Amino acid sequence: RMPILEQCYNLMDFEAVARKVMKKTAWAYYSSGADDEITMRENHSAFHKIWFRPRILVDVEKVDFSTTMLGTKVDIPFYVTATALGKLGNPEGEVVLTRAAKKHNVIQMIPTLASCSFDEIVDAAEGDQVQWLQLYVNKDREITKKIVQHAERRGCKGLFITVDAPQLGRREKDMRSKFTDVGSNVQAGSEVDKSQGAARAISSFIDPALSWKDIPWFKSITKMPIILKGVQRVEDVLLAVEAGVHGVVLSNHGGRQLDFARSGIEVLAEVMPVLRERGWDKRIEIYIDGGVRRATDIIKALCLGAKGVGIGRPFLFAMSAYGQPGVDRAMQLLKDEMEMNMRLIGCSSVDQLNPTLVDTRGLSMH
Ligand code: FNR
Repeated sequence: RMPILEQCYNLMDFEAVARKVMKKTAWAYYSSGADDEITMRENHSAFHKIWFRPRILVDVEKVDFSTTMLGTKVDIPFYVTATALGKLGNPEGEVVLTRAAKKHNVIQMIPTLASCSFDEIVDAAEGDQVQWLQLYVNKDREITKKIVQHAERRGCKGLFITVDAPQLGRREKDMRSKFTDVGSNVQAGSEVDKSQGAARAISSFIDPALSWKDIPWFKSITKMPIILKGVQRVEDVLLAVEAGVHGVVLSNHGGRQLDFARSGIEVLAEVMPVLRERGWDKRIEIYIDGGVRRATDIIKALCLGAKGVGIGRPFLFAMSAYGQPGVDRAMQLLKDEMEMNMRLIGCSSVDQLNPTLVDTRGLSMH
């Protein structure tokens, strides 16, 4: 029998429930990674290579873990990252995530390939709630320009251009489930080929010719901050700074693209010392995503210099299993874990988090 919501005590619990109750095709699409799923598994395990060096006898009676991301104040340093096809898991789709994000004062990144239309997701936001746009760049730049400028007009506060997906990875679980019912607003229209799983079916419009040369064009069509999502080595972070973008997400797309790509946290440990050495760490905001399941994961990322982290699958699973109350609870659990662990590490605010609080000798770069 399905456990009641109160029996979910951490983010992994939602996944276990979702696995039992979700439709097979939906489970296959959400849970799969590329090829042998080595990177997908590594994403969470990489956090296990980092240990804490907590401080003691610090007054932690009051703990404030709010922060800012691209200038927006948020309750806790995570955002809901873009994940396509929300209606596979819940008939209401992405707006469920919008409402939960509002409740917990965190930012939602709206996927290009959402099941709900972009406007439905923006309309579901309330008051001054902030949303970002995740962009897959269309071969037809006029379409891309329309999407970007529409998002800016509708108040989006960040443009996250996905740069790790010139071609979609092979997610074999998903391919086997022979995707049939997309239920999406997808732009690709009649070109879709449904024989290769959900991912392939909806991605044929993405431009594999996208390059650094396109960045000035993006800057010319929008005033939104531009962030490159899916950067995987320090050399490219330096190029991103030189290109004048506002941020990067160190990410391997949840292990769904290049198998054997390194985890975001591992890349972060490579990137930050180089940025600091050049004095460039103030010129760009660094985010990571992939495998973040515990507040300790968030804290480790911030200690190493990330401004915040993205979380994907756990909210999809919570939404699929329990609807909005599930996502609410998942976010609340992270807040509870955050408060406790900030206390235990001896920090009362996020600006106190710094590299001396972590022992990274277990990471492979050492
Ligand atoms: C994604 N991700 C993703 N990224 C993106 O830029 N555009 C997209 O359409 C999608 N779609 C998508 C669907 C599903 C089902 C998943 C699980 C992921 C990647 C996502 O933004 C993020 O990088 C990872 O999900 C982070 O890893 P975790 O938190 O899922 O482990």
